[in-house]
Amino acid sequence: MNETSEKTGKGAARKRVLSGIQPTGEVHLGNYLGALRQWVHMQDRYECFYSIVDLHAILGEDEPASLPARTLDMAISVLAVGVDPERCTLFVQSDVPEHVELAWLFNTVAPVGDLERMTQYKDKSKRYDSIPVGLLNYPVLQAADILIYRADAVPVGDDQRQHLELTRDIARKWNARYGEYFPEPDAIIPEVGRIKGLDGETKMSKSLGNTVSILADEDGVWESVRRAVTDPQRVRRDDPGRPEVCNVFSLHKLVTDASLISDIEEQCKAGTRGCVDCKRIFADSLVREFAPFRERAEHLRAHPEEVRGVLEAGADRAHEVARETLGEARARMGIKWRSTL
Ligand code: TRP
Ligand code: SF4
Repeated sequence: MNETSEKTGKGAARKRVLSGIQPTGEVHLGNYLGALRQWVHMQDRYECFYSIVDLHAILGEDEPASLPARTLDMAISVLAVGVDPERCTLFVQSDVPEHVELAWLFNTVAPVGDLERMTQYKDKSKRYDSIPVGLLNYPVLQAADILIYRADAVPVGDDQRQHLELTRDIARKWNARYGEYFPEPDAIIPEVGRIKGLDGETKMSKSLGNTVSILADEDGVWESVRRAVTDPQRVRRDDPGRPEVCNVFSLHKLVTDASLISDIEEQCKAGTRGCVDCKRIFADSLVREFAPFRERAEHLRAHPEEVRGVLEAGADRAHEVARETLGEARARMGIKWRSTL
């Protein structure tokens, strides 16, 4: 791809993708398998914009004082897993304030009823006596994140599908009123389905302590994997196991060399391989996968100015596109009084 088509993006052969991740700090196996590994794979196939969405994160309960560190840690993790700023645009959402202005413009077309029907809103709003309007508006900002780059596609897991549908509705409503301008972005279905935590029950999450950090060392990995829940019917080491109900086996398939998987499956069924052994192989696979991440993260942690440089350059590039889109959206909505003087 030549430089012009890379710069202009829209005219280029590659479709444009936007994705966002909350600055939760440390990245765990679930974030990696569910999102970041795909971010790495998408870099060459699409023109990618990746955003660390701090303006969404302030709706959470975490301490504001730790947000800068969580944002930096997330950037380090994203870069450590192999997201390459030479091949994509990585930036922090709040560095591109146009997102917020576009969200306001979209507030004028987004239906309250639809926002109230969002599953995530319904779940989260239960935790409040007085629901902040930002919780209701959350998907409008998300629509702005996506549409300000006029993205063609967005990778979405189950939990974000509704928000993408709403984004498409907002684009449609806005276009109907102000003229065809925003694309209705398609969903890119994730490579892997829902990832259950090491407890074999709930979604993998750091706060539930059922996962493992992608920056964990060998001991750290084993410490978490050792306790993973397997086939509950397997009591003795030589009981025949049921890989199809074992969550460790599902995870194995995502990280262990394919050539080993059928052996593991057969030996489990025959009762010739114990779960501890099997988890050892799984832990080894993780350690191998994570090794380069740890090395890169260590380097970046020692050179925060490099991370800062990447995020600044990313914000500059994102800003260029965002400014153009916002200018057009404003003009079509009549926010251009200076031009009448
Ligand atoms: N809501 C997403 C989440 O919680 C994060 C997000 C914000 C996002 N803006 C986005 C994801 C735009 C995709 C596209 O995971
Ligand atoms: Fe699961 Fe492996 Fe134990 Fe079989 S041997 S039940 S696949 S952990």
